[in-house]
Amino acid sequence: MVGSPGKKLILSKASRKSLAKPEHQQRRLYGRRQSRPLNTQRQEAFDTLMPKLQIEVAPALDPKTLFPASKTEHWLEIGFGNGEHLTALMQTHPENGYIGVEPYINGMAAFLKDIKDEPCDNIRVLMDDAILLCENLTDECLDGIYVLNPDPWPKTRHHKRRIISRDNLDIFARILKPGAALIMSTDVDGLAEWIVTQSFTHPAFEWTAKCADDWRKTPENWIKTRYEEKGAKGSSNMSYLIFKRI
Ligand SMILES: C[S@@+](CC[C@H](N)C(=O)[O-])C[C@H]1O[C@@H](n2cnc3c(N)ncnc32)[C@H](O)[C@@H]1O
Repeated sequence: MVGSPGKKLILSKASRKSLAKPEHQQRRLYGRRQSRPLNTQRQEAFDTLMPKLQIEVAPALDPKTLFPASKTEHWLEIGFGNGEHLTALMQTHPENGYIGVEPYINGMAAFLKDIKDEPCDNIRVLMDDAILLCENLTDECLDGIYVLNPDPWPKTRHHKRRIISRDNLDIFARILKPGAALIMSTDVDGLAEWIVTQSFTHPAFEWTAKCADDWRKTPENWIKTRYEEKGAKGSSNMSYLIFKRI
């Protein structure tokens, strides 16, 4: 470490490394966090709602403490994109508390603009790495987790970036209640296979599918994301992978 009083502290590479957080406490965010500048409406919604709804991550965080009134169930949606699915959930189930995590500011702002006229007493958000939040949640505190259309990271050398991994499933297993749901979807065959392999071989999870139709057909009451709704390339090839916390 190099430095003298009143001067800017310069850390050597070795010191920076020794001060770095352990691997499991580091943010693992890949991909974009902002694209074009926010338009006026999204910027306004972001500036008004973000301070009210954002979660301060702290150790032993219990989702129950995030909402002004008691909620029947607590659910987390990881990587909600523009939040169409989350918006529909919070509107149709005001009795539940929802936590949405999306590190991409344009997605977060689009979501906040859409919900600006809602009561917003059953939604809280984080604009960061969802795993960072999960690591800080208390044991068995969630009734379900949604991971819809996660980034596929198709190159083999990038597979370790995939959000569904053994390490992250260990974390999900800890924070989900027994019998809780882990609901995942993708239109990428290679990723579907990966998700099934990772989750099926995890001792804490049980695949609810009994036949191909159970993961090939759109589940009852499924809320389609805009991507699925618009019939975008690949959206006719969805896999719905629903696991239960044993
Ligand atoms: C392919 S998009 C899908 C968006 C949305 N779920 C949908 O189905 O339309 C994947 C999303 O995951 C988000 N994401 C990537 N890594 C994440 C992480 N570590 N924590 C939370 N969200 C993440 C990305 O910013 C992106 O918006």
